[in-house]
Amino acid sequence: VSQELKRNFSIIAHIDHGKSTLADRLIQSTGTVADRDMQNQLLDSMDLEKEKGITIKANTVTINYKANDGKTYQLNLIDTPGHVDFIYEVSRSLAACEGALLVVDAAQGVEAQTLANVYLALEQDLEVVPVINKIDLPAADVEKVRNEIEDVIGIPADEAVLTSAKSGIGIEDLLEAIVKFIPAPANSEDGPLKALIFDSHFDDYRGVITYVRVVDGTIKKGDKIKIFSTNHQFDVLECGIFSPGMNPTNILTAGSVGYVITGTKSIHDSQVGDTVTSVKNPCERPLEGYRKAQSMVFAGLYPISTDDYEDLREAIEKLQLNDASLTFEPETSLALGFGFRCGFLGLLHMEIIVERLRREYDIDLISTSPSVEYRIHKENEPMYTIDNPEDFPGGGQGKVIVEEPYIKGNIIVPKDYVGGVMELCQLKRGVYVSMNYIDDTRAMITYEMPLAEIVLDFYDKLKSRTKGYASFEYEMIGYRPGNLVKVNILVSGEPVDAFSFIAHTDHAQARGRIIVEKLKEIIPRQQFEIPIQAALGAKIIARETIRAFRKNVTAKCYGGDISRKKKLLEKQKAGKKRMKQIGNVEIPQEAFISVLKLS
Ligand code: GTP
Repeated sequence: VSQELKRNFSIIAHIDHGKSTLADRLIQSTGTVADRDMQNQLLDSMDLEKEKGITIKANTVTINYKANDGKTYQLNLIDTPGHVDFIYEVSRSLAACEGALLVVDAAQGVEAQTLANVYLALEQDLEVVPVINKIDLPAADVEKVRNEIEDVIGIPADEAVLTSAKSGIGIEDLLEAIVKFIPAPANSEDGPLKALIFDSHFDDYRGVITYVRVVDGTIKKGDKIKIFSTNHQFDVLECGIFSPGMNPTNILTAGSVGYVITGTKSIHDSQVGDTVTSVKNPCERPLEGYRKAQSMVFAGLYPISTDDYEDLREAIEKLQLNDASLTFEPETSLALGFGFRCGFLGLLHMEIIVERLRREYDIDLISTSPSVEYRIHKENEPMYTIDNPEDFPGGGQGKVIVEEPYIKGNIIVPKDYVGGVMELCQLKRGVYVSMNYIDDTRAMITYEMPLAEIVLDFYDKLKSRTKGYASFEYEMIGYRPGNLVKVNILVSGEPVDAFSFIAHTDHAQARGRIIVEKLKEIIPRQQFEIPIQAALGAKIIARETIRAFRKNVTAKCYGGDISRKKKLLEKQKAGKKRMKQIGNVEIPQEAFISVLKLS
């Protein structure tokens, strides 16, 4: 396919505005997938994505479309996630495109994430084609949304494509708009090879599968290629496009998006953002690559069974290949033994990684309380950062200033909820910046807030206070000093480092109290009494007691019911496997997970 017949584009949208459904329609209407193989949310291939109904990973598919001008175009679609945690995936996908479809829900209008995503696209000089979706809904108000796109985002919307991804309306118009408005890639097929690695995954049989956007030149089966940063050379065993499964074409020309297999098992030769070039005719300089993803939330991950430690390392390494925003390093915990300190983009990202480790790699784990990164300034010492409550400076160390990361958050919400949202932001130590009405029914409220407060449960609280109508998006704005303390949680007098956390002085007691109460509910009674305490230094700020139990579980089944007795014992045994022995107390895995969800 020649250059002028290629179109590379992403679909960007606020969560749930219909991006994945629209992608399904594009794939289906062009016959890329036979009707009998069609299933909903085709590109959301991970089980987790299907279950949660969200896109986590950007996905890629090549579609052939015969346009009204009689020519057949090759459309490369890169689907992107909508949740704020995954904005990094969005910016990566955009770097491989010339244009973006901006999908806006006709009933809901422009939301916080619409704005954040469209700014990313404009920053990268992409051609943005507005699409107003869900026009089948009774509440759809196309003119209002058109005005919002023009007023709030500031791009013309008179040519916005009107679609219903659900009923298949406007799909033909959309395909024509892609061909008409999105520019063809501008580079040459003959120059030295330059291809950008924008993703990759590990296949147990075939090794590393590298996803590339060929910027200049051509990759063919049998070519000798070189990875720019490692200087390692490989033979191309196979290359091809996604349609949407891997489809070997054995040639990828400039402007194409596809995959390359070299048989390597080394994940270091497939780092996202790196450049692939040819051995014979190498390019002089690498492509610009990506800004590194910045971890916002940190937590320790520990295998329940110490035998799983090496498996866990291998699993995290493989996941990292597919998700460059995940960082990790070895860590040890008094309570939990050997594990890894991991960095995540946000709490949802963390939950998803933990869940993937469980499901895809069958590793039972425990995670410690999530934390943000703090800056510690001690007198006469250079500043250093910590992300583990264990490293929080204790008392008696002279003057110590602790700084915490702040974000600037934009919240779009219907008028009636403005009061409730401001109250919540205030409660979360927010500093009011501004409020503007974006139309006659909705306002955009801007606050500066500590990231630590957002990480915990801000989004859930926001949703529940606004019946789900609020949308939220944020960016980091730097560090500010805060009055912060470390709270220890003691079980039977022993501090359990996995539960300790850093909090603002004003919130320390309330948060400690909630955790102590929750642990009392979750930790089963044992042969002896177990005090559970929250402590600020030597001072106990909350306490609960789990009383000793008297009977064993089978005591209730007197007489003949052997099978019931057996079942109970088996259940007890299975329960044991998911327990972590800490000192003389057995703590269920659940306890570690539920502490995560508390504030
Ligand atoms: P993420 O992948 O999580 O970012 O969401 P998304 O933007 O991909 O949204 P998705 O395609 O999953 O659609 C969200 C919901 O809207 C689903 O329940 C769809 O069935 C529904 N939906 C999508 N398009 C339309 C449409 O045109 N009309 C109506 N009525 N519903 C639609």
